[in-house]
Amino acid sequence: MDKLLVEGGTPLHGEVRISGAKNCALPLMAATLIATGKHRFGNVPRLRDIMTMRTLLAHMGAVSDHDGALEVDTSDIHTLTAPYELVKTMRASVLVLGPMLARYRRARVSLPGGCAIGARPINLHLKALEQMGVDIELEHGYVVGEARRLKGAAIRFEQVTVTGTENIMMAACLADGVTVLENAAREPEVICLANYLVCMGAQIEGAGTDTITITGVRELRPCSCEVIPDRIEAGTYLAAAAITGGSLKLTGCSREHVQSVVQKLLDAGVSIESGSDFLEVRANGRVRSVDIETQPYPGFPTDMQAQFMALMTIGDGVSVIKEHIFENRFMHVLELERMGADIQLDGRTAIVRGVKKLSGAPVMATDLRASASLVLGALAAEGTTEINRIYHLDRGYEAIERKLSAVGARIERVNG
Ligand code: EPU
Repeated sequence: MDKLLVEGGTPLHGEVRISGAKNCALPLMAATLIATGKHRFGNVPRLRDIMTMRTLLAHMGAVSDHDGALEVDTSDIHTLTAPYELVKTMRASVLVLGPMLARYRRARVSLPGGCAIGARPINLHLKALEQMGVDIELEHGYVVGEARRLKGAAIRFEQVTVTGTENIMMAACLADGVTVLENAAREPEVICLANYLVCMGAQIEGAGTDTITITGVRELRPCSCEVIPDRIEAGTYLAAAAITGGSLKLTGCSREHVQSVVQKLLDAGVSIESGSDFLEVRANGRVRSVDIETQPYPGFPTDMQAQFMALMTIGDGVSVIKEHIFENRFMHVLELERMGADIQLDGRTAIVRGVKKLSGAPVMATDLRASASLVLGALAAEGTTEINRIYHLDRGYEAIERKLSAVGARIERVNG
């Protein structure tokens, strides 16, 4: 199994190009099932999760090619099942449920089960589909959905759910009548998906607000679009500059989508300047400790909590970090402690007392963002850190060691 060896202590300087967002590309790929024919997406990152979604679509009969742009041809869909083997490796597979029901009125999707960051049920997706007239049965670990027709409905999500909003928005595009989603997710990835659906002929209003109105149409046709920049990758590199005491220019990304992270970094004493498609970050010595609470967009993203915690481990002062989205997203805490961090856990709150230095140690990656936090800790630590199970990183960070090496990090992937 591959691992990363990181020799810490070098400030990062230079330019990093931010890739397309995985959490935008995945729903777009699922959306191809709604309209028969050739779809085309630019700026799709080369990541394991993208490969998994291609494999899932191939299982259903779609043909895809990722040479420059990603092309997906859904002319010959023959299987309406998302099998356990694929859903268990990537929960976003559940995004095919809405499109399949919309287009074919039938779908069989493995229940995802728990994962390293929490229970993560899909009950809100299923409840909303039932409101739209879908019969949902649970058979041998699979959700089996069937509907003679999908009908528009007034749906209020009890909790903000990103893929839930995306799934139901897709299902509603071909339903009879109007669907109104309240307490909808406002993430930029939801807006990008809505724009793509509109490009295909859907009628959607309000994406980006907490109320989305979808008027069903008879048919959609394939279209093309660009994947938006990965705001979590951008946030991770901002934190990388801050934690190493360096300076980076991030290109191909906009400040708007990372504003909550930028604000916390400014509060911590980091300098950040920006233009229409770049961000420049410069550390000013040791960061000040600041508190964060994760919230749905536009609040501070849960997907940046672990990385920000890594930064706070060497902050000047005490930082209180509250995780409101996932109940178990603190798996990185014990690993950061192996590197000398001083963190006290109390339910969904972590109290981080800044130390002067972290020290390199063998650590284990447990999920995607936890892995990123260990890379950040390692870049700042004295000595060598060995990060095991880095396949998590390959799910969501394109060319991470190449990008980091190019700006001065001493990082190497080794086998075994
Ligand atoms: N929830 C339910 N029932 C549901 C759906 C959600 O109880 O039916 C709960 C979840 O358990 C969680 C909260 O609602 O406590 C929010 O979960 P959400 O549904 O928004 O998460 P998701 O859609 O499964 C997406 C991202 C995650 C990101 C979260 C939160 C994709 C493909 N995944 O997941 O990304 O953390 O939103 O922003 O968009 C990552 O990239 O590392 C990642 C985990």
